[in-house]
Parts: sequence; C-alpha cells; structure tokens
Amino acid sequence: MIGVFDSGLGGLSVLAALADALPHADFCYYADTAHVPYGNKTEAQIQGRVTAIGEHLTRLGCGLLVVACNTATATAVEALRAAHPGIPVVGVEPGIKPAAQETKSGRIAVLTTEATANSLRLKQLIRDHAGRVEVFVEPCPGWATHVEMLQLDDPALAADVRARIEPLLDKGVDRIVLGCTHYSFLAPLLNEVLGQRAQLVDVAAAVARQTQRLAGALARRGGKLQLHASAHPERLRAALPRLHLGRLAARLV
Ligand code: DGL
Repeated sequence: MIGVFDSGLGGLSVLAALADALPHADFCYYADTAHVPYGNKTEAQIQGRVTAIGEHLTRLGCGLLVVACNTATATAVEALRAAHPGIPVVGVEPGIKPAAQETKSGRIAVLTTEATANSLRLKQLIRDHAGRVEVFVEPCPGWATHVEMLQLDDPALAADVRARIEPLLDKGVDRIVLGCTHYSFLAPLLNEVLGQRAQLVDVAAAVARQTQRLAGALARRGGKLQLHASAHPERLRAALPRLHLGRLAARLV
C-alpha cells in the first residue's frame, strides 16, 4: 500500500494524479484535519505531526510514503526519511524549475502557505533552479482553509485571488507556480484572472511519475483506496464529488 498524506483535502489533488498513474496500486490517504491548516504552524508543530503520521501509515503497512503537502515537505521531509530509512519517501515541492525553464518574461511567481514562504528549503529551491529568473514569493493565508471548507465559490475568496494575482501580472509574471496542494482546486478561479497572460504550474503529474518509478511491486495490487482523517473522516468521502474527484470514489473500500 502507498501512504499519501496532507493537512487536509489538498493532497487529494496529488492522490488523483497518483491513482491515474498507478491504477492497480492500493492507496491509504490520511488527512490531518484535526490540525489543518499547517501553513500557520511552527516548524516544530509540523514536524511533530509529520512524524506521527509517518508512524501511523507505516504501522498500517504502507511501503512508500508520498508527502502530498508542500508545507510538510519543506519542513519535515528529511526527518521523515531519517525515521523510515527502508521506505521511499516522495515529497512535493513547488515547480520552480519547470516555471524557470518555461518563462519567456523571466519573471515567475510562487503561491504558497506562510510556512513554506518562510522555509529555508524554498529559498534553496529558488537559488538552485531559478538563477537568472526573478521569483516573487506570494504567501496566500486563508486560501487552504477556503478549500478545506469547500467554499470555492465564495466571493471574498475570488476578490482575494484577484487582489493577489493582478499585481503579479502587472509585474510581467508569466508563470505562476501552485506551491500548495490545496491551490490546485482553485485553478478555475485563478485561470479566470490569468486569462492568456500567464500559465499555472502544478507538479502533481511529476510527483506521480516519480512515485511510479519507485513503486515496484506496490504498483500491482488491487487498485483500492482507504481514506483516513484525524477528525471528521466522513467529510473526506463527501468532498470527492465537490472536488470533481468522483473517479476516486470508485476505488474506495
Ligand atoms: N496543502 C498544504 C501544502 O501543500 C498545506 C495547506 C495548509 O494546511 O496550510 O502546503
């Protein structure tokens, strides 16, 4: 079984790509809904949660872990790898590299949680992969919570999206990296603002390809899905159709 986790619903965007790439793998998705959002937590708090979830998933029999959360990856992926040296761990990091390669204007932006924006790992990622490109880091407090509450049509959210994105477009940004897995569910809202002026960059498919490379025999199981959550597990199943992920419901055990 492949364990996939996030603070809440955001990682379902990664799980969907994983399920498409690995149709016969068994997955266990864990949403840490008792502690969402991670974006305003301290590094120590996030590391504590990631360690506990890693133990929970490996005890359930997961032989590969996907950290479907940029914030948890930026803060705690190394600690998770150290705690489970025999198990491959795939993290999710903002697609700075593809955005820097694709940009024509030489200006890109990355939308993240506050914790990711402040992380050393994001600074390293920008230094290593965006040498000659100007990168605007835009923390988006509250967006993950809107997704979590399935308030995707809230006019206040639409207004905040516009208020954050328009100034980036005015600066000439032509690639906008989704640096939080929750924001994939805001793509329609974001694309309305972007129009033809810029493109979104999402790494879910790349994460799925990397997982595929590491899955080995885990790719050949029953194609089942278990959903677990630290609070209100029933809301996960109910959220699938709202997030246009009905195809995952067919795999549920
Ligand atoms: N989905 C997470 C991420 O990719 C975190 C959102 C949150 O809990 O603040 O960063």
